[in-house]
Amino acid sequence: MDAHDVEGDLEKILLTEEQIQARLTEMAAAIDADYKGQEILLIGVLRGAIMVMADLSRKLHTPCEMDWMAVSSYGSGTKSSGVVRILKDLDTDLEGRHVLIVEDIIDSGLTLSWLASNLQSRGPASLSIAALLRKPEATKVQVPVRYVGFDIPNEFVVGYGLDYAERYRTLPFVGLLAPHVYGA
Ligand code: PRP
Repeated sequence: MDAHDVEGDLEKILLTEEQIQARLTEMAAAIDADYKGQEILLIGVLRGAIMVMADLSRKLHTPCEMDWMAVSSYGSGTKSSGVVRILKDLDTDLEGRHVLIVEDIIDSGLTLSWLASNLQSRGPASLSIAALLRKPEATKVQVPVRYVGFDIPNEFVVGYGLDYAERYRTLPFVGLLAPHVYGA
């Protein structure tokens, strides 16, 4: 899927494929330096994180395993409430593992805040977070993110894993959704 396939649906491209890939290469280098001599258990949060997970993991030289969680937050409409339900739990025991949560976006921070404390209670040797995008203006709860790709404005973004009504996830870039698409 490319920009031509969604013409008219986007206001503009916020981050190009090249910008995303270049930043992921830098993040992978930082992670490799920090985890030298260790093995990482990457935990992706379905579904948005699939693209970041696929690209970031392939840029790492550090040996790593992957596992996945699916969570859903109770709330009104698209607003996160901070009350999270596990739809699919991990298959891996975290005891003694170096765990790195991989996320596409931190919006209010409520999902990750809940997830981080849930995973911390499972006894990992270490627990850190990598997120491609963060919206500082939307923050409701501070989450200590060790690796951040880009801070972005508090606007409706899609692409590179991020959806609107399950669409646009397969775009290779991140774009701003035009208000007419979501009925504003
Ligand atoms: C998105 C994103 C994070 C969460 C961030 O997931 O992947 O998990 O929202 O929001 P928060 O910081 O306000 O909690 P979403 O619930 O849209 O599901 P998806 O990944 O399946 O698209």
